[in-house]
Amino acid sequence: MDKYAVLGNPINHSRSPFIHTMFAEAESQNMEYGRLLCPLDDFKGTVDAFRKEGKGLNVTVPFKEQAFAYADILTDRAQRAGAVNTLKFCDDGSVIGDNTDGAGFIYDIKRLGWNFSGKNILVLGAGGAARGIIGSILDEKPESVLLVNRTIEKAELIKQSFNEINVTTYDGLLAEGRMFDVIVNATSLSLNGEVPRINESMYSNVLAYDLMYGKTGATVFTDYAMSNGAQEVSDGLGMLVGQAALSFNLWRGVAPDPAPVLKALRNQL
Ligand code: ATR
Repeated sequence: MDKYAVLGNPINHSRSPFIHTMFAEAESQNMEYGRLLCPLDDFKGTVDAFRKEGKGLNVTVPFKEQAFAYADILTDRAQRAGAVNTLKFCDDGSVIGDNTDGAGFIYDIKRLGWNFSGKNILVLGAGGAARGIIGSILDEKPESVLLVNRTIEKAELIKQSFNEINVTTYDGLLAEGRMFDVIVNATSLSLNGEVPRINESMYSNVLAYDLMYGKTGATVFTDYAMSNGAQEVSDGLGMLVGQAALSFNLWRGVAPDPAPVLKALRNQL
């Protein structure tokens, strides 16, 4: 039986085994998918050992940059993101590195019926999550993308890869006083029950998306956006299933339907 796993540290809470096991059943694929806890100082040794039997890995925090360095062949979107969330171990011994996070995000945006074309997009946060989605947002031909981060140097680093975007700090954003059509929360603040420090009037009539997800489909960010007049909001569970479907496709050559898995996962949270 072909073996796959999600590798990270920590990894206990990962929903990927649930998602991929459902995909495998739906697509009649003879495979198993587990969790692999990777020591912080031994990414290479852990992957080398898994590869002796395994066919592919999903890679999560904090190893996506190391997975990027590990791959022999990078897809264009992995190259642009500077990070890899999917490794495929090919029969000829080569390793393909892909990044399906951005495409998974856009899959979910389309599922929601949202459209970024011609829109002014505000992205909050400049960590790995933001870097993973910027290229895919730009592919949707928005009018503008402004990336805001507490630490301006990290936003400027992302701008080096994506010259079309503008970057500023939260103070800079306040001073500009601009309005946006879409606000994406790519900070980790929802984990602490906090919301980004932007003016609450900015949420009026926007589409607000949190890359984090919550049990009920809401997060502190989506609740805050909604109570300040957002038009529609979403948490990031659909993105999680969307990126998984694209990894599955790279490994198995079939494209599973994310919709029933998203429904089952939501009920299971
Ligand atoms: P991820 O891989 O999930 O993106 P990360 O790389 O640790 O995780 O990035 C977390 C993001 O949340 C960063 O943009 C971080 O801002 P800094 O780059 O300034 O650290 C943002 N973040 C975390 N705590 C924050 C806080 N209290 N206020 C504002 N931004 C915060």
